[in-house]
Amino acid sequence: MAMFILLSSTAFLATALFLLAKLWTNHQWSKKYKFPPGPKGIPYFGNMFQMPPFHQGPWAKEVGEKYGEMFTIKIADNTWVFLNSSRVVNDLLEKRSAIYSSRPRFPYASSILSGDCRMVIQPYGPQWRAIRKTMHTILNIKNAPTFAPFQDLESKHLLWDYLQKPEEWFKANQRYANSIVMSVVFGKRMENDDPNVERLFETSNEFIAALQPGANLVDTFYILNSLPTFLQWWRPKGQKGHAKVLQVYKQEVQDLKKRMKEGRCPPCFATKFLADPETPKLGETQTLFALGSLMEAGSDTSRMTLSQIIAAAASQPGWVRAAQKELDGVLGDATRLPEFSDRPQLPYISAVTKEGFRWRPFAEIGVPHMLIKDDEYEGYKFPAGTLFTWNSWSIALSEGENRDAEKFWPERWLDKSIQGFEGKVEDPLSGHWSFGAGRRVCTGYHVGDTNVWIAVARLLYCFQFEEVKGKSIDTMNMNVGEHRWAPFDVKIRVRSERHRALVERVGKEAVGVKY
Ligand code: HEM
Repeated sequence: MAMFILLSSTAFLATALFLLAKLWTNHQWSKKYKFPPGPKGIPYFGNMFQMPPFHQGPWAKEVGEKYGEMFTIKIADNTWVFLNSSRVVNDLLEKRSAIYSSRPRFPYASSILSGDCRMVIQPYGPQWRAIRKTMHTILNIKNAPTFAPFQDLESKHLLWDYLQKPEEWFKANQRYANSIVMSVVFGKRMENDDPNVERLFETSNEFIAALQPGANLVDTFYILNSLPTFLQWWRPKGQKGHAKVLQVYKQEVQDLKKRMKEGRCPPCFATKFLADPETPKLGETQTLFALGSLMEAGSDTSRMTLSQIIAAAASQPGWVRAAQKELDGVLGDATRLPEFSDRPQLPYISAVTKEGFRWRPFAEIGVPHMLIKDDEYEGYKFPAGTLFTWNSWSIALSEGENRDAEKFWPERWLDKSIQGFEGKVEDPLSGHWSFGAGRRVCTGYHVGDTNVWIAVARLLYCFQFEEVKGKSIDTMNMNVGEHRWAPFDVKIRVRSERHRALVERVGKEAVGVKY
């Protein structure tokens, strides 16, 4: 009994001391730092239960409208500052990018599951910089000729799929995006039923699931990470996931090396990356994850953008007539498809692509960047470790930033009188934040932009898109992330018999190509 009393009073004392220490640190902290105002939360959990688990954009937009250009929320151990205007995104994430470009290190998702090697969530530092540099040299616009043949081939296959099974357009988009990224990274086409490719995408889905707020308690409540290893119930699952992903990547690399030996592998990211003298310095795990990270970051993003442009074509068809007029003017009556070399003559299609990235950003609340050094801005004082994100949905859909913001309006990128746009319409980054910001901006943006451009040019040239009677598309609430079924209903038909003949001719040939 005495022992029990001793133990429980020690536990009581330890808890009381811990809470006191926490209160004291919080007090000192709030005296030293000053954050923009934000919605009131509850002790310890902060605003965790206010933020919806999915489709957070409208919520973040509403909060932004109440608090102005910045607001702060707390999600358990993390403080997030939302940047609600291009002005503040530019001031902090772009101009002060040297200190606003890190990522939080999540005990489960970053360390156990990814061995601290998954580039998308790697903290700012020499390891991330080395991979980022190599990725940039391989994925930049100068290497477009390496990737263009894949995009050409897969977009012809895409047209064939739309002609054969228009009701499965969403699956066609998925195959298109996956196959390009597999070709770009591993020089390999994607067949819908390839078991290793399926496992590859399975592992990235596991990773995406692990990133969702609250998916693993230890990534929200960091204190759990101080439990002794044998009490960390999440560890075995994470270690198993890590071993699985490494095995899947290894198999792809072995297959790549075999195809290279047999002379069956076209030049791609992996052939260049593995031949780079800097690559062995990264070590095996990091090398494998660099390849996998590209595959994870580069596939769904193109698929979702395409789906959104199709929704816009069916629900707001006015702009499609302008796009088709431009295409018909350059290409005539279905004797050939649009090519990358036609791009200078097709500015409207570039404007459609740009508008597709802006219109309904699917990274609705951006991707958090972590500050690595205390900083001051417009009267606020931020500690290192604060997370900053661009409020993507809010900025894209605010009237102050984009006139008639909900309208899909490619002209806004061509006619200066609409919103004073000064940039070049072909520049994928200017005028919106859908590729992110600063030093962390998407490394694959040229590939992403050209994936979407060629697919959109060819689809609009060959097909018409209409809403299904009685099933109008709710473009503010589309779940374009869904890949098991169509995110909305749309009727697709070929523009003419001549276009049908063209798609049959080029599509059939593309479907048959193997490497
Ligand atoms: C098609 C549309 C695409 C969109 C909208 C998109 C968007 C994004 C966004 C928002 C980020 C985070 C940026 C930030 O934190 O500031 C990102 C990062 C990244 N993206 Fe993309 N992306 C696309 C395509 C691609 C493609 C095709 C590739 C590769 C071939 C790719 C590779 C990456 C990588 C590796 C990162 C991580 C960069 C880092 O953490 O330093 N993306 N992307």
